[in-house]
Amino acid sequence: MPDSSAPQPIWLDFKDKHRCGILVGSGFLDRLPVLIETHGAGVLTPERKVLLLYDSAVETHYGARIDTALRAYNVIKHVVPAGEGSKSFSALEALCTRALSAGIDRKTLVIAVGGGVIGDLGGFAASILLRGLPLVHVPTTLLAHVDSAIGGKTAINAASGKNLIGTFYQPHLVIADSATLASLPRRQMIAGYGEVLKYACINDPPFFQWLQHNGKSLLNEPNSDATRYAVAHCARKKADIVLQDETEHGVRALLNLGHSFAHALESAYGYSDTLLHGEAVIIGIVLAARLSRQLGIAQDPQLEKTLTDHLASLDLLPPVAIDTSALRVDDLMATMARDKKNVGAHFNVIALRAIGDAFIYKNCPPEALRAVWTRFLASNGSLS
Ligand code: GLY
Repeated sequence: MPDSSAPQPIWLDFKDKHRCGILVGSGFLDRLPVLIETHGAGVLTPERKVLLLYDSAVETHYGARIDTALRAYNVIKHVVPAGEGSKSFSALEALCTRALSAGIDRKTLVIAVGGGVIGDLGGFAASILLRGLPLVHVPTTLLAHVDSAIGGKTAINAASGKNLIGTFYQPHLVIADSATLASLPRRQMIAGYGEVLKYACINDPPFFQWLQHNGKSLLNEPNSDATRYAVAHCARKKADIVLQDETEHGVRALLNLGHSFAHALESAYGYSDTLLHGEAVIIGIVLAARLSRQLGIAQDPQLEKTLTDHLASLDLLPPVAIDTSALRVDDLMATMARDKKNVGAHFNVIALRAIGDAFIYKNCPPEALRAVWTRFLASNGSLS
């Protein structure tokens, strides 16, 4: 039955006629079936199976509500431990084995409720089970709301690196309920803010100005109009880029602003809670600005200062205190050299001419990167 109170989705219409809707609002968890049916993920019947995936953290906060919302349906529930460890071959195998032994068929709907780990694991499983099952993401972190649930990247980690095994597989629907952010630890909000800031820095100076005025509300009041505005804005920005370049052969690489630096740092800390991905992205964006200034690329002489002033105003300079005394420039450079954006032996990084003017800088001189890392380590990660 159509639900007239449901908000209008942001639609991504792909060239292959696949359509993905993104719903941004509050109080969606109790209404999952009607939202799914109204927005293109097919009719749910008591016979149609639902493969429901969430982690132990989601279970604690929302498990009972989700289970109640789906109680009339044929649910195969699979709960995994919270954390990056669930993006593994063994977790994927356990999920697929559970789904197959429960008798899924090609109409089975996969619903992945959680942050980036669950979205990546559930999305990957949906893309390979029976060669592809319909998929709905219900992101529960700010980072997943604005980035990882949108655009179809799925992955598990390999011994040699993060996200090295995966697919591009578009969901039918993303249901972004800001009420799920209310239980998020502050560090997770900060991590999500890194990806929000990224969109402003890529190509959206007015959004940067908006963040200068509203960043505090966004961080302090997760279930607010400011958050929903930012999530919807970022979703539109990501949709725009993904529709131009779904499989990252060109412009989509801009979404990796700050990420080459971030991945090197995350790898140095073993992808542990010492440094969350989005916290590393904030540091990475500042280092990208610094690199751009040092190379003489930055047309705005105030680029780095404007950025760091903004972060300082939010008490995010640095976003998290890290001890860099055990890090080595050679190791960070070696990890950067393995970045997926590089071609052959050349470093390709996302650089900034100004806030809101990012571009792919090919063949970045390694000595410039070394200089950025050397200064960063000399300040013990303080970004001063
Ligand atoms: N998170 C970057 C992308 O989806 O392309």
